Amino acid sequence: MTIQIACLPGDGIGPEVAESVETVLEAVAKKFNQDIKVERYLIGGCAIDETGSPLPQETIDACKKANAVFLGAIGGPRWDDPNASVRPEQGLLKLRSELGVFSNIRPLTVFPKLLSASPLKEEVLKGVDFVVVRELTGGIYFGEKTRGKDFATDECRYSVQEVERITKVACELAIQRNKKLTSVDKANVLETSRLWRDVVSGYVAENYPEIELEHQLVDSCAMKMIQNPAHFDVILTENMFGDILSDEASVLAGSMGLLASSSIGEDCGLFEPIHGSAPDIAGQGIANPYASILSAAMMLRWLSLENEAKAVEAAVYSAIENGVLTRDLDKNSDTSTKDATLAVIEYL
Ligand code: IPM
Ligand code: MG
Repeated sequence: MTIQIACLPGDGIGPEVAESVETVLEAVAKKFNQDIKVERYLIGGCAIDETGSPLPQETIDACKKANAVFLGAIGGPRWDDPNASVRPEQGLLKLRSELGVFSNIRPLTVFPKLLSASPLKEEVLKGVDFVVVRELTGGIYFGEKTRGKDFATDECRYSVQEVERITKVACELAIQRNKKLTSVDKANVLETSRLWRDVVSGYVAENYPEIELEHQLVDSCAMKMIQNPAHFDVILTENMFGDILSDEASVLAGSMGLLASSSIGEDCGLFEPIHGSAPDIAGQGIANPYASILSAAMMLRWLSLENEAKAVEAAVYSAIENGVLTRDLDKNSDTSTKDATLAVIEYL
């Protein structure tokens, strides 16, 4: 059976890391005798330039038809005009919503080799291993927006059903891990957060009584993530808090270039590094490809190719442990994106 992957390289370093993923998938196909076919489609700023739309219909159709989607990164200063009517980010949000990928999983692992790459003290980082489960297709990202002459609004809305289905995903993950769940909200201020807290409490009590559930306010969670990150196991949160907390979490790992993510819905899977398009280093061939390659591993796992996924992860870990580090992880290094990718393939 042919496995069809829609690859959306996007902008900035997106095409560079997408190429790494394509090379690794080719090597996986060869090694494991799989028929993996990757086709590229437009999204983001480059799509605006070519078609006027950040998410052309052709891309949507191809993503829906494919078995899985890989996305590099989108956006950049070229399309940053605050008054522009179309923005690259709209393409990504529309894609998430069209594919219905409401559940965004962002695992954080701290590699022993990279303890010194993080600005935090090594003793704080010991044993840190948690996952952020971010609701991805609701909340303030998708509410109605208005702009008047001297005001603006962004509506934040959540339904019980939206909160329940993401809670279920987090609970399933917690069950496979340590049965510990931290739900993050701002229930002292926001009505949507009070609904969130009620629904999560009720859902866990009724369906997963074996899970130890705690609630944290997002501001205090942001602080604890730096003070005592080893406290966390599975963090469940809404769209915008998850966006912010996952960037913060990447600092613990030493670089944004390490964090992978999966976005899953009823029948679609979208896989992307959590980092952005890094316009400051785009085109130089020095971007860290590991987050993208690890996202591809999550993709393989989701496609039920567990051995393939494990092999790719193990290859990335070996490359890291053997000191194949791009400049974001070792500022004296001249390891290129290609070098790192080839190292992964070699370990594979
Ligand atoms: C992310 C990104 C996106 C988000 C942007 C590019 C729209 O920051 O995936 O974390 O805010 O969701
Ligand atoms: Mg983000």
